[in-house]
Amino acid sequence: MAFPESFLQELKLRNDITEVVSSYVNLKRSGRNMVGLCPFHGEKTPSFNVYTENGSFYCFGCGAGGDVITFIMKIENLDYVDAVKHLAQRAGLELPEHSYDDSMSRLRTRVYEANREAARYYYSSLYSEKGKAALGYLHSRALTDRTIRSFGLGYADGDWTSLCKHLRSKGFKDSELVAANLAVRRKNGNGIYDRFTDRVMFPIIDLRGNVIAFGGRIMTNEKPKYLNTSDTPVFKKSANLFSLNKAKNSGTRTLLLCEGYMDVIAVCQAGFTNAVATLGTALTTEQAMLIKRYADEVIICYDADEAGQKATARAIPILRNAGLLIRVLTIPSGKDPDEFIRSHGDDGPAAFKAVIEKSGNDIEYRLQKLRGLNNIETTDGKLAYLEQAAKIVAGISSPIERDLYSSKICSELGIDKNAFKQQIARINKKQYRENSKKEARKIQADLSGRNDKINTEHYQKPRSSKAEEELVVYLVNNPDSAEEISSRISPEQFQNSLIRRYYEYFLGRIQNGYDPLTNVSADFSQNEVSKLYQLLSQSVRAASTHSAMMEYINVIKEESQKLTSKEVEEMSPQQLSDYLDKIRKNKQ
Ligand code: GTP
Ligand code: MN
Repeated sequence: MAFPESFLQELKLRNDITEVVSSYVNLKRSGRNMVGLCPFHGEKTPSFNVYTENGSFYCFGCGAGGDVITFIMKIENLDYVDAVKHLAQRAGLELPEHSYDDSMSRLRTRVYEANREAARYYYSSLYSEKGKAALGYLHSRALTDRTIRSFGLGYADGDWTSLCKHLRSKGFKDSELVAANLAVRRKNGNGIYDRFTDRVMFPIIDLRGNVIAFGGRIMTNEKPKYLNTSDTPVFKKSANLFSLNKAKNSGTRTLLLCEGYMDVIAVCQAGFTNAVATLGTALTTEQAMLIKRYADEVIICYDADEAGQKATARAIPILRNAGLLIRVLTIPSGKDPDEFIRSHGDDGPAAFKAVIEKSGNDIEYRLQKLRGLNNIETTDGKLAYLEQAAKIVAGISSPIERDLYSSKICSELGIDKNAFKQQIARINKKQYRENSKKEARKIQADLSGRNDKINTEHYQKPRSSKAEEELVVYLVNNPDSAEEISSRISPEQFQNSLIRRYYEYFLGRIQNGYDPLTNVSADFSQNEVSKLYQLLSQSVRAASTHSAMMEYINVIKEESQKLTSKEVEEMSPQQLSDYLDKIRKNKQ
């Protein structure tokens, strides 16, 4: 059963989209709309629009769009039901009784519960007889009991079925444990066994305090060293960060980005509670945008080894694009933050603080790397260094910053600053030309719909698609025309299957006396909702008159009668002449 329409309408009325979005995005008025920097992709000029009139948003940069419910789903990473609950709570609305009990939502709740119970179980195992070695391992890595409790660390024993047994005794079904990825089905189909065995366990907790996943470290040198929960109905690796729940309350707008669980925990134990880590994968744009909500600056604290340096180079542009300031920590003597802090014993916190204070911004970091690669005592080395340094400096957007680095480099190498500046200007000009070309190509591709991953049929049938899209928009904006439109055109005459689905859906809603848009975020996928709001937001400017509507209908009719050349080939002369008659009649 879905939420009642009246409830959803009240919910939307009481959660003004501008107000809701404003608590995440800095909005400015622009004509009738509000605009800001899109929270779903990195950008420097605002293309994120909020339309107060119809309670929607649309980003012309990344194509995200929808109503206030979609917005909360995306920004809080919630499913539909939880987003509605979130907004109800925000507005002080009570949820209608027996409202939503869709099975996915129930499963998700069970997975959260199973994870919480598993975390409790692992924690108590750690402090039981069988957890002795595991506790000893964590102590040997210099973790205190206080830290262990604070992160809720635990131990998954080596029995293969003990967690399954425990959770069954608490009323969980096998299917729920498999869905949570706490258990795995046996290959022969006979029952399930524990996913994690004989590992120390790190619970991953989301921003609302739910245990959403686990990482488990083996205590020997066997492989794999870490085993993580696969993606589940409540967990997406690429959209979460370890310990962000703690870091967001650390009282600073600077985050320390580490490579692994142990680094975060060691850094935190040393007094820096603003540390987070990705979950065994390279940093994603989603994670960078998530960081941006809680921080203005990131200090990359990756390992000093080659892999760590490569990961640093990859992370810098992602963080920069998200609008974050970046500093890069250089840990002496090839250690990771955990090893570094431990190697300094009681002085660990102070030593780490000193390294943080010494960390330069990403430009300094890259220039320093470059210096290491070129021997500037030789002319060739000097030239190579300058050429690449100019590229780095040319990429800085602030002119003051650019000038500062130019001066620094030139005085270091004893060369003329004007020559260096000219070089930078040349690079910028070339870059500008390339960017313009790229942009032009993208605009062309967008216009033709060639890059449209959702409305894929638009490109194949542009003329009919365009008319169908416009007609759907007209219908949504003029529900009282539903009867007239439906009497003139039937869904079967639509060529584009996605647009046909919109058409059938809105006709159905209007004919049943509902507002067309109230429930779209429940009835379509997020991508389909975005596409719909793209169509709606683009036509805000287009004339939308009755005669335009008639024209769309004519085009749809005409296009629906067009035959493919194969169909024409296969027609008998009589069929062909009937067909031509029909077309002529329509034209009159
Ligand atoms: P310790 O050896 O316990 O100090 O861990 P570490 O964090 O120093 O390990 P490392 O630098 O090798 O790995 C960093 C992060 O990558 C870990 O915290 C994990 O999230 C992930 N990782 C490392 N090894 C594996 C692995 O074998 N499998 C998976 N899935 N992830 C791994
Ligand atoms: Mn380590």
